[in-house]
Amino acid sequence: MPTRVELFCFCVFVCSVSADYWSERDAIIAKEQTRSVGGHLRLTDREEKVNKILMRYKYKELDDGLVHPKNFLAGQHFFNAKKEIERSKVFNLIKKLPKGASLHSHDMGLVSFECLYNLTYKDNLYVCTNDGPYRLQFFGDKVDKDCDWQLVSTLRQSNSSFDCELKKRLTLVVDDPHVAYSTLNKVWKAFEDIFVAVTGLLGYEPIWREYFYEAMKELYEDNVKYLEFRGILPQVYDTNGKIYDPFEVVGLYYDTLKKFMEDYPDFQGAKFIYTPYRKLDNKTIQDHIVIYEKLKTRYPDFIAGFDLVGQEDAGFPLTSFINELIPMQQNGTPFFFHAGETNWQGATTDLNLLDAVLLDTKRIGHAFALVKHPEIMKMAKHKDIAVEICPISNQVLKLVDDIRNHPGAVLVANDYPVVIAPDDPTFWGAKGLSYDWYIAFMGMASRDDDLRLLKQLAENSIKYSATTTSEKNDMFQHWQEDWNRFLDEVLKEENIINCKCNSIRCQPN
Ligand SMILES: *[C@@H]1O[C@H](CO)[C@@H](O)[C@H](O)[C@H]1NC(C)=O
Ligand SMILES: *[C@@H]1O[C@H](CO)[C@@H](O)[C@H](O)[C@H]1NC(C)=O
Ligand SMILES: *[C@@H]1O[C@H](CO)[C@@H](O)[C@H](O)[C@H]1NC(C)=O
Ligand SMILES: [Zn+2]
Repeated sequence: MPTRVELFCFCVFVCSVSADYWSERDAIIAKEQTRSVGGHLRLTDREEKVNKILMRYKYKELDDGLVHPKNFLAGQHFFNAKKEIERSKVFNLIKKLPKGASLHSHDMGLVSFECLYNLTYKDNLYVCTNDGPYRLQFFGDKVDKDCDWQLVSTLRQSNSSFDCELKKRLTLVVDDPHVAYSTLNKVWKAFEDIFVAVTGLLGYEPIWREYFYEAMKELYEDNVKYLEFRGILPQVYDTNGKIYDPFEVVGLYYDTLKKFMEDYPDFQGAKFIYTPYRKLDNKTIQDHIVIYEKLKTRYPDFIAGFDLVGQEDAGFPLTSFINELIPMQQNGTPFFFHAGETNWQGATTDLNLLDAVLLDTKRIGHAFALVKHPEIMKMAKHKDIAVEICPISNQVLKLVDDIRNHPGAVLVANDYPVVIAPDDPTFWGAKGLSYDWYIAFMGMASRDDDLRLLKQLAENSIKYSATTTSEKNDMFQHWQEDWNRFLDEVLKEENIINCKCNSIRCQPN
């Protein structure tokens, strides 16, 4: 039998050891929390109140998901979850939240699918339904002979299954994506076929303007006030036979932007990243670089920089063009390279990440494979290179299935300069930025990551945009006003809801 004194000593020992254990444990948790994106921010009183509301919604969805994994939306394929996401309270709060800037999307995939599809109702639109992808094209009096072009409006009337077929050809959305797209190459094939189909639709001069205007409007309505997008500057045409060259195409963007900013004076602007196709030979790339230089001279405040586009694994790596890219780097060209959008660790395309970083890219598109490269990761952070994470794109294009396994979670946990972007929302049925933000917030961040994360994501999007210092200052100031208004609105609504509840004598939540 231990004596009383022995027992007492034992107890004190155990208790103090376990107290040490718990305090060490708490300290580590606190340290991890402050080191994640937004973790060092201090919230104001009003922000704290909004945060409580946000987190009440977030915890509810997470707790429900833990019991019924089927209900956890950020863990599912976006095509199956979208309708439910639209009912989520977290999502609806994110929609209202001023999100700053959208920094990664592409010329042909900027708008909602509904908006794109509406354009197929325009007069004089023809379709070529030969084998292979559909093609759409506007004609005046003279219709080309290279295909049996049929009027879309006529087909719609004469053939009841046509409309449905056309719709299918313009979207990746299907009921069962896991069956329809069994491999990454299959989904990329379908994706590239859509681009073939929409090029002639969007490339018609009046549509080109209307479409770009709508793109900015949809962002604006999603509380995004600035856009940086990539484009290949395809041939734009009209029905008089005029073909617009790349300079004129940029001119169309530019004029449309000016018009939009007259109509929406608090929109903060848009800039363009020239992004030729990555599967071209040296000579053609050189031609594109010449075009880029001239564009930059002609539209210095609109042209942001240079990138290459297309399925990375199927195109040429950056090293193929290194003789062209190094001189560009030396004369200060801002690069915004897509890199590491791959699961092939150690392959040449995976190492695009290294070349992007060595070439001083300002941001990396996707950087999906970055966390597998400790040295490149260190360099990227040291050079303060932002990472544009596109969660829905990565899932639809089959780099990751359940978003909770997205490597971006590691970057968020380590306070990398992360921004969240939509890539080509049209083709997966998203719109604006809110869907990607919701999925990142729910699926790529810690349970306790809160309003501070969202606030930091918005701030990052402004900080890492290709804007001048004075443009940035304006954007921050404007964003702060929107942010204050957002806080007011949420708090006001919450009060109204509580009052309503009281008046019918239910418990306020
Ligand atoms: C598409 O067209 C319909 C019918 O004209 C209209 O109600 C709807 O608002 C349009 N949607 C978009 C996104 O433009
Ligand atoms: C109607 O359209 C569908 C889908 O495009 C096509 O498969 C079918 O052959 C068309 N029918 C006729 C009679 O043209
Ligand atoms: C471009 O030229 C370089 C150097 O001659 C060569 O290594 C590379 O493979 C070429 N790129 C392409 C896409 O042909
Ligand atoms: Zn992209």
